[in-house]
Amino acid sequence: MTDRIVLAYSGGLDTSVAIGWIAEATGQEVVAVAVDVGQGGESLETVRQRALDCGAVEAYVADARHEFADQYCMPTLKANGLYMDSYPLVSAISRPVITKHLVAAAQQFGASTVAHGCTGKGNDQVRFEVGIQTLGPELKCIAPVRDLALTRELAIEYAEKHNLPIETTKKNPFSIDQNVWGRAVETGFLEDIWNGPTKDVYDYTEDPSFPPSPDVVTITFDQGVPVALDGQTVTALEAIEQLNRRAGAQGVGRIDIVEDRLVGIKSREIYEAPGAMALIAAHRELENITLEREQARFKKTVDQRWTELVYDGQWFSPLKRNLDAFIDETQKYVSGEIRLELHGGRATVQGRRSETSLYDFNLATYDAGDAFDQSSARGFIDIFGLSSKVASQREQRIHGKPDFSGLGNLDR
Ligand code: ARG
Repeated sequence: MTDRIVLAYSGGLDTSVAIGWIAEATGQEVVAVAVDVGQGGESLETVRQRALDCGAVEAYVADARHEFADQYCMPTLKANGLYMDSYPLVSAISRPVITKHLVAAAQQFGASTVAHGCTGKGNDQVRFEVGIQTLGPELKCIAPVRDLALTRELAIEYAEKHNLPIETTKKNPFSIDQNVWGRAVETGFLEDIWNGPTKDVYDYTEDPSFPPSPDVVTITFDQGVPVALDGQTVTALEAIEQLNRRAGAQGVGRIDIVEDRLVGIKSREIYEAPGAMALIAAHRELENITLEREQARFKKTVDQRWTELVYDGQWFSPLKRNLDAFIDETQKYVSGEIRLELHGGRATVQGRRSETSLYDFNLATYDAGDAFDQSSARGFIDIFGLSSKVASQREQRIHGKPDFSGLGNLDR
C-alpha cells in the first residue's frame, strides 16, 4: 500500500493546491482533513467534495464546534487568557483541536505523515507540530509552503493549469484565521505599523464610532462558564455565538497590537473577538467577587503562565495540565450573574449578583450598623507597619534622618 499523508485542509487556494503538490513531491496519497471550529463560510460537505475533486484519496471532515467551545474556549475563559494582556488566543487554541483530529485521521487512514499549510515564520507551525509529536510521536510532519517551496504565485499557476475547482482571482491582501472565539488578520499594508486598520479589515465587528443604542445583557455563570444569557439557557457555543453578534454589533473586541511571536519576530496583528472579550470582562468581574484575595492574586500569575504556554504551542504539555487543575479548582464558586452594557466598543460591567459571593454588605457599608470593628484597625496597622518602622528607626540612628528616597541613604 502506498504511504499516506493527512493534510490539514481549509478549502482555500493554498491547501487545495497542496493536495496535488504534496502527492507529486512525495509520491504518497493525500487524505484531506477539514475541521469546523466555527469559522463560518462554506459547508463541510462543500469543502469535502472540493478536497476529493482536487485529488485527495479520502476526505475526513469533523464538526468540532461544540468540542472547541467546551474544551478549548471555556478553559481559556476560566484562565482569562489574554496574551500580552490583549490577545484572546484565537488561533492558538484552534490548533490543538485541529491537531487532535489530524492525529485521529492519520490513525484511521493509516498515514505516517501529517501536513499543514503554515509558513516557516509563524507560531502555528510550532503549535501543530509540537501537538502532533505529543499526540502521535510516531508521526512525521511536513509543511508544503515551508518545506516544498509552494508559493502563492506557484499555487495560482498550478490551480489554473490543473483546472482545480477553486477561485484564483479573488485577491485578499490579508492573511486571515478565524473561528468562533475570534478572528486574526495580518500582513498587507498592516505590516507598516504606523498604518491604521481600514474598514475592510473587520468582519465580526461594526464600527464602534457609530453604535446603535446600548445593549444590556445578563450573563449567568456556573463554575466559571456561561450557562444562560438574559435567563435563557445556552450551551457554551451558543453563548459565544450570541455574544459575537450582540457585542459585535457594538464594535466590542477590536484589538490592534504588535505581538511577540514564539519564533522571535514582532508582528502586527488585528484581532476581533467580540464574544470572547465580553465573556472575559464578565468572568473577571465575577471572579473579583467570588475569589478570596490571595487566591485571586496568585491566580493572576497562573493565568498569565497558562496563556503563555498555550500561545507557545504547549497545549498538551504536563505543566499546562497542572495549571488547568489549579484553575479548575478556583472556579468552584465562580457562579452567579453579571450584567454587562455593550456600547460603543466597550463591554462595561454594571451589576453583579452571586449566591457564592464574598462581598459582604455589612462589612463594606459606611452606613450605620456595619459589622466591621473599626477599633481593630489601629492594632492591625501598628503591627502591619512595624517592620518598616523599625527599619526607619535604624536610618534615624545612623544618618540622623529617615530615608524617603527609597534608594537607601547612599551619601555615606
Ligand atoms: N499571531 C496570531 C497567533 O500566533 C495569529 C495567527 C493567525 N494566523 C494566520 N494565518 N493569520 O496566534
